[in-house]
Amino acid sequence: MDTREKTDAFVCKTYVRHGKAFVSGKGMYLTDEEGQVYTDFLAGIAVCSLGHCHPEVTEAVRNQAGRLVHVSNLFYTQPQADLARALVEKSFAHRVFFANSGAEANEAAIKLARRYFYDKGQSNRFRIITMTQSFHGRTMATLTATGQDKIKQGFSPLLDGFYHVPFNDIDALTKALDDSVCAVMMEPVQGEGGVIPADPEYLSRVRSLCDRTGTLLIFDEIQTGMGRCGTLFAHEIYGVTPDIMTLAKALGNGVPIGAMLATEDAAAGFGPGSHGSTFGGTPLATAAGLKTLTLISDLRFLAQVKEKGRYFKKQLKGLQARHPRIKDVRGKGLLLGMEIDDGAGVLVENCFKKGFIVNAIQDKVIRFAPPLIVETKDIDRLVSVLDSLL
Ligand SMILES: Cc1ncc(COP(=O)(O)O)c(C=O)c1O
Repeated sequence: MDTREKTDAFVCKTYVRHGKAFVSGKGMYLTDEEGQVYTDFLAGIAVCSLGHCHPEVTEAVRNQAGRLVHVSNLFYTQPQADLARALVEKSFAHRVFFANSGAEANEAAIKLARRYFYDKGQSNRFRIITMTQSFHGRTMATLTATGQDKIKQGFSPLLDGFYHVPFNDIDALTKALDDSVCAVMMEPVQGEGGVIPADPEYLSRVRSLCDRTGTLLIFDEIQTGMGRCGTLFAHEIYGVTPDIMTLAKALGNGVPIGAMLATEDAAAGFGPGSHGSTFGGTPLATAAGLKTLTLISDLRFLAQVKEKGRYFKKQLKGLQARHPRIKDVRGKGLLLGMEIDDGAGVLVENCFKKGFIVNAIQDKVIRFAPPLIVETKDIDRLVSVLDSLL
């Protein structure tokens, strides 16, 4: 049996996979079992932002794996302490809770928001408002929070107390926000929803609304954070700061890790015994996270992400001018979406045949989330392939 046959026979059938099995990766490139090389414009869905097998991250993981992998959170470990400090120093936050994935980081944020008001004697303040078309994960709480019906199908009864309003609609949020709401949770740029950025005015009005009503504002930066949008966190572009932020995906450059960051005030909701995770913040994962964060948060690195994002968007807009099938080009930094009439899935397959990995959302939007080390020559090659395919 080959890899594909074994996977299809023994792994749950939750994923629709492409026909290839990859065996190695380096920088922008992935190699399959037959030795065919692909240029990766997806980075494992916005995860391998420093490129595949970045030598310094590999070295950090290798060193840590030979020293200490896991001891549990009953004890202190230096990599966890160092990553927490670095995240706090580079963000609005004062405290970090470590998890293993995006969904778990969001679970922590949801639990913190409820517990925060419970501790204040306001246990009736438990509702959480999220946005339609949002995506927050696949656990029961996070799929309830997610504003897309298709991922909820067959999992009822869902959790109580979640309410969705249309994204970028301040009136809808204003109407929904009463004194039973503990938190508003949203992505600054909706990723899985089709690469849809928040309007700057909307986001600052959301902040004011939360301030006025004492509601916690949670930004899910699992896809948009860690330099993806050209600043370390996407909310920096907007100049709007949340009370709680979640990270995962690129935080470990491929090593599974999630984190929930909170202000001192909000974090007060998590006292001893209120939440936990066996694997959250292991020495191995946090060593990878610290190295990744150090490299990505370098200002010169972030400046080049912005510059290449601008260049890529301009090239895609150029395509749009030539191809009426393209309805819109949008996004921030190197998280870009190209909306087409339909047939995004076919276009993705055809790109794959030409040696490029891109991704389709809802058969309408091509998502580009390349490693942040992408070069203009890679962009030019992809754009020329798209040009011929369109
Ligand atoms: C914005 C956002 N939140 C949460 C998640 C869930 O992360 P994970 O798949 O690591 O649980 C994702 C994954 O795509 C995401 O894009």
